[in-house]
Amino acid sequence: MKFYQKNEIFHLFFIKFNYYNTLINDRLYLMNNISKLISLLGGTGAVAERLNIQPSAISNWKKINKIPSTKLEAVIKLSSYLDLNIENFLPSKKLRDLKFKMLLIICGGIASYKSLEIIRLIKKTDIELDVVMTKSAQKFITPLLVTSLNEKKCYVDLFSVEDETKMNHIRLARDPELILVAPATANIMAKLANGLADDLASTILLASFSKIIFAPSMNPVMWNNLATRENYRKLLDRGITFIEPDTGDMACGENGTGRFPEPKSILEFCLSYVREYQIQKNQFKDISVLITAGPTIEEIDPIRFVSNKSSGKQGFEIASELTKRGAQVTLISGPVNIPFPVCKNIIQVKTAQEMLDNVTQQLPTDILICSAAVADWKLIPKTSSNIKIDSNNKIKKTNEKLLFETEKNPDILKTIAKSNLRPKIVIGFSAETNDINKNAHSKLLSKNIDLIIANDVSNNKVFGEDFNKVSLIEKNNYEEWEKQSKKSVAYHLANKINDLLINYKKRDVNA
Ligand SMILES: Cc1cc2nc3c(=O)[nH]c(=O)nc-3n(C[C@H](O)[C@H](O)[C@H](O)COP(=O)(O)O)c2cc1C
Repeated sequence: MKFYQKNEIFHLFFIKFNYYNTLINDRLYLMNNISKLISLLGGTGAVAERLNIQPSAISNWKKINKIPSTKLEAVIKLSSYLDLNIENFLPSKKLRDLKFKMLLIICGGIASYKSLEIIRLIKKTDIELDVVMTKSAQKFITPLLVTSLNEKKCYVDLFSVEDETKMNHIRLARDPELILVAPATANIMAKLANGLADDLASTILLASFSKIIFAPSMNPVMWNNLATRENYRKLLDRGITFIEPDTGDMACGENGTGRFPEPKSILEFCLSYVREYQIQKNQFKDISVLITAGPTIEEIDPIRFVSNKSSGKQGFEIASELTKRGAQVTLISGPVNIPFPVCKNIIQVKTAQEMLDNVTQQLPTDILICSAAVADWKLIPKTSSNIKIDSNNKIKKTNEKLLFETEKNPDILKTIAKSNLRPKIVIGFSAETNDINKNAHSKLLSKNIDLIIANDVSNNKVFGEDFNKVSLIEKNNYEEWEKQSKKSVAYHLANKINDLLINYKKRDVNA
């Protein structure tokens, strides 16, 4: 693996973004200090999550103070959301016109007072800020102080008759695009990891769809406690981003990991998210996307059917992610037992034929993503003496053997991809139990599709789970992704689709 020299990295940074008008010293400093750069990008966990690699790899970069060449582009892309002029980054011009709502939850720890500096810095931007304090936080700083700094009411009580006339706890959970918990205590991590909602802060976190960032700070022994480690892992897996605590001398006199990072770097990280959000918010504006998800079922008689184990989770996460990024999403779903995502249009179907009919009715569309596990066959019941059975009524038990003839269902992906209404981009999922990539690649070619997402479903893997391990197969490209949550797969897939759209536009211009 090639490792770039620091001067090469700096050169690439410089050329790539042409930051001639910002402070060169800051960038030189960051490129000489991979740990600092990773910290500004949100810490080991956050960067590993964004780049879809193991946190141990990032720890290694920090140790050797180098970034491998294969990951450099991706790090540069991530860093492009940072204003590298770290001393003079506020207020950012880009943020002036941005209507962005943020909620700060302050918990009770030795670093609670530092959240006041975060409020002061946020007030220099045009971000609209609400603040919630836990009961313990009020032992360290007062709501009056927060109210004066934020020039707005500070929320402290779940059972406030006055606030709850407007279901305030739900409004506070739903309104902000970003919730920052800083400092996050071991206690709030444990509460959210275990679904507790016994005060305003924990209830908001449980009721929110928003991006949640935790900036924990605690005694090093608390941070390394197996319970906290487990809670951290759980929250990471559910899509919470962590700004990792710093290492050094603690207020309690001990030394280790658990220090609250500088308010400025916490805000830097949040602003990088705001910028990313700003870019992604309208990334798929005016783009129509049709997604199939879940299983289909084929009835044998009025009370029996054949189907498969697909839960619909992966397709629903993709629908949700693309909707968030501005796409006009129509979701065609087979029968599932999970809540529907927020998207423009949802159509519920049962059989493969119904799914195909509805997909066809929704054309033309810019992008088609077939994640549904469509039943390959219908089963036609027969007796052993080859007499067809009336399947309009419940099939009765007789002395004759019951046999089934199979009838092939339509291949939705192939039918649409080979039709003259073929969307610009067609993406298929391929669930396999053996020769996964070989089978997926031959499907890619025979069905005329742009991208296949292959997954191994042997031994009950994937179906119904919250995690997925996928490979992406294109005609001239192959990517194997780490195991990650289906939410995270949806996030990275949306980035991939954006790249495919850019390439499509380039081809269109050159044609
Ligand atoms: C002086 C003092 C300092 C504390 N500092 C921290 C801290 O830095 N981090 C932490 O997780 N807990 C700390 N605690 C413990 C929390 O205050 C306690 O777990 C509390 O229940 C947290 O409540 P909250 O999560 O609702 O804010 C501290 C407690 C005291 C008395």
